[in-house]
Amino acid sequence: MCGIAGVVGQGNVVDTLVRSIRTLEYRGYDSCGIAVLQNGALAVKKGVGTVEEVSQAERFSDLDAATGIAHTRWATHGAVSAENAHPFTSCDGRIAVVHNGIIANWTELRARLEAHGHKFRSQTDTEVVPHLIEEQLKLGAADFETAFWQSLNLIDGAYSFAVVTSLEPGRVFVAKHKNPIIIGLGESANYIGSDFNAFIDKTKRAVVFDDDEYGVITKDDFWVKSRLTREVVCKDVTTVQWDAEMAKKGGYPHYMLKEIHEQPHAIRMALGVDARGMAQVVEMLRAAKRIYLVGTGTTYYVALVGQYLFKDHARRFVSAVAADEFTLLAEVDAETVVLAVSQSGETYDTMQAIRCAKAAGAKTAAVVNVMGSSLAREVNVALLQMSGPEISVISTKAALAQMVALYRIAADLARADGTARGDAADVAAAFAALPDLVQQVLNEKSGFLNTLAKHTCGWKDWLFLGRGVYYPIALECALKMKEVAYRHAEGMPAGFLKHGTLSLIDDDICSLIFVPPKRDEALHKMVLANIEQIRAREGHVVGFVYDADESLASLLDERVLLPDVHPSIAPFLELLCGQMFAYFTAVALKRPIDRPRSLAKSVTVP
Ligand code: M6R
Repeated sequence: MCGIAGVVGQGNVVDTLVRSIRTLEYRGYDSCGIAVLQNGALAVKKGVGTVEEVSQAERFSDLDAATGIAHTRWATHGAVSAENAHPFTSCDGRIAVVHNGIIANWTELRARLEAHGHKFRSQTDTEVVPHLIEEQLKLGAADFETAFWQSLNLIDGAYSFAVVTSLEPGRVFVAKHKNPIIIGLGESANYIGSDFNAFIDKTKRAVVFDDDEYGVITKDDFWVKSRLTREVVCKDVTTVQWDAEMAKKGGYPHYMLKEIHEQPHAIRMALGVDARGMAQVVEMLRAAKRIYLVGTGTTYYVALVGQYLFKDHARRFVSAVAADEFTLLAEVDAETVVLAVSQSGETYDTMQAIRCAKAAGAKTAAVVNVMGSSLAREVNVALLQMSGPEISVISTKAALAQMVALYRIAADLARADGTARGDAADVAAAFAALPDLVQQVLNEKSGFLNTLAKHTCGWKDWLFLGRGVYYPIALECALKMKEVAYRHAEGMPAGFLKHGTLSLIDDDICSLIFVPPKRDEALHKMVLANIEQIRAREGHVVGFVYDADESLASLLDERVLLPDVHPSIAPFLELLCGQMFAYFTAVALKRPIDRPRSLAKSVTVP
């Protein structure tokens, strides 16, 4: 959950390194550091805070070097402190290492190295690595590459590393096992990054490492070898389809708002997801005896929405399981298909679920946003949702687009099964109109939601309630409220309320109800009954409702009125409102929108 960058170029690359880790800050932002090779020796600077704060306080700009590495951290082992910030150096100060991941056997390695006289200055797992390489050199490794390779063979865990050493000027060494690392190929400069964003303003040509590979970049060249055989691996050069502009704020105050506004485009891309991949996924699902949808956090809620979409559009029951519980719960065999959902394609829990499913002989597929990500490479079929870079830690456009992609899969599956709904053509037309409707709601409701959020931001406790597919929509909107506004919001099926939580209703708790359009008659009636239960206890109620639904006027304290739409797409408009409501609440409370405390975008640890 950290961001790694590296450059070998000509002239001073310090600015480039600082820019790189700034673009990677969504991966972690509690501390950062840089190590460069200056006048034949390593210079290291690091500290606690954002890249902006640390680079100024520690005067990174005083450095002048053509080779270096940098890191932005999300703490796993060891508190957030300057000593625990990366890079870490060997005792002789000639080797510096940055790391993303967790070294499982670091305590044994550290004890062994300490017994051999190595002095440690941090409480991190990573610090063993420079000492380990130094020790291999002391023990007689033929050269630095051999020492690095021998060290990799002693490490148990998950990692991507970038290493600089004064012993090999003009080179950055890298390695990957379970955590991502990518090379960017530039003009008289090559780059390293945890993802494409690290160097997208310099080059779109990239080489993606697979597990158990290590390599080197120089100014004009690179090589990649297998850690297992030590033979050179011939790698494909990928052209990245994002550009630097897409990863900028483009006039919006926050990435979250920009990405909310990019949803019409993200939906269009998801509706047009690659037909070949789609056909393969459908075939895979048709042959399966058991189907799981997996994800974590927001993507678990996407999977839950998928459960309802598969039922509504394909008449199939599929199980949505949180990826972090998957290995403890799921029954998997060769007749199982596991369809994972992930924005980053790097989430540890989701990767573990997929690896465990593959080990049991299951077929795997994914809806994923990041091309070349670990998940996209691990599964049998990857459907790239093509939503463009999502920078804010708060997932919005990726999630909505994933739900739309799951609808597409369910609809295609139904067509292949011959079980399509009678009104399937109307539903398809409604989805085709969704981008414009999302745009309309953005245009017409932003102001109202902003004002509403200013009125309601004082409520510290919320219940977010929905039934049917609105239940996982409520869960997802509650997660938005928690992570960005730091407000306690409990998502729940509205029908569940009477089984216990109703006792919470008083002046201190506000309920937000996700009401379906009146045309969805049965569901609408059920929700109405649940609102009555809250009102009978004098609870405060806010509702997302559809125009012309006067049945609710007297029951709600505040209403957000939405244009009357086909019931199949109505939940997506309510998701949009929930995202905006959380955003404006967070703005009203002056929260750090795109980088909430304690979180990171890409969670690559257990
Ligand atoms: O990259 P992924 O989609 O696999 O990430 C999964 C979750 O960590 C992620 O959705 C998280 O819950 C977000 N912060 C939600 O906004």
